[in-house]
Amino acid sequence: MELVLTGVTKTYPNGVKALNDVTLTIPRGMFGLLGPNGAGKSSLMRSLATLQAIDSGTMTFDGIDITKEPDRLRDVLGYLPQDFGVYPKVSAWDMLDHLAQLKGLSHRRERHELVKALLVKTNLWEHSSRRLGGYSGGMKQRFGIAQALIGNPKLIIVDEPTAGLDPAERFRFHNLLAEISEDVVVLLSTHIVTDVADLCRNMAILAGGKVILAGHPLELMKGLEGRIWKKFVTAEELEVIARAMPVIAVRRVAGQRLAHVFAQTKPDGDFLAVEPDLEDVYFQALSHSQQAA
Ligand SMILES: Nc1ncnc2c1ncn2[C@@H]1O[C@H](COP(=O)(O)OP(=O)(O)OP(=O)(O)O)[C@@H](O)[C@H]1O
Ligand SMILES: [Mg+2]
Repeated sequence: MELVLTGVTKTYPNGVKALNDVTLTIPRGMFGLLGPNGAGKSSLMRSLATLQAIDSGTMTFDGIDITKEPDRLRDVLGYLPQDFGVYPKVSAWDMLDHLAQLKGLSHRRERHELVKALLVKTNLWEHSSRRLGGYSGGMKQRFGIAQALIGNPKLIIVDEPTAGLDPAERFRFHNLLAEISEDVVVLLSTHIVTDVADLCRNMAILAGGKVILAGHPLELMKGLEGRIWKKFVTAEELEVIARAMPVIAVRRVAGQRLAHVFAQTKPDGDFLAVEPDLEDVYFQALSHSQQAA
């Protein structure tokens, strides 16, 4: 069971090429799709969810041609859109029960068992009679996952589900995703690097509609070993350094600027070697692709 994309291209009527020849193989487990605003993540996810057509390329999931057999895909799909809205006056129980009916679960008792199981799983059981309008952001996102899980989907697509969650809610959401991803394909989009670092065995970075890097997070980090260096700098020093070598990122640490640079050997000055993390991978890939463009 895997999701295979080849040459997926999508141009909107206004001329924006949101996806440009995207080729990816997405195996079972959690896959992280990382990219800045406007990279094309939602465009890819909406196309996979059969909500919009692509211009060219193929998308297949577990023997299903998504373009030619959208109904078959919908039967195995769970989707949490980026702009997931809820009906504020409806309770979680009533909404899930309604959505389960729409999904074809007509047997009342079975459906009620499923709704209860989903609310328990997403830790919303004790709030199931509350109006969705009174839910916090994290609760809404967990409700979003509950609705995406109706009908035992084999392909779960979640579009930036952790944006705006506090650390405790993010942690809870991570655990929930990790639990459900064992036997299915979960495609998670985010611009939060630690989401991918914490959760995903496989990942890709999307920028300007193109896949600029794909692989296993651990291997990608290893690939940068010995080539990332750090130094606390002033604004003036940073300018000088940036002329000499690629500055991957400038982080704020305790109110100071910490520059991460890319260099094959230790640069002159008081640079220290850094154990590369996924943020280094991400920013190195982005700056590299910008230079190439
Ligand atoms: N319906 C649309 N019509 C025209 N252009 C669109 C449409 N949807 C998206 N775009 C454009 O396509 C590009 C990719 O957008 P998309 O929403 O897929 O990116 P994203 O990676 O999901 O970004 P974000 O992190 O901000 O959600 C952007 O330039 C965007 O402005
Ligand atoms: Mg998006």
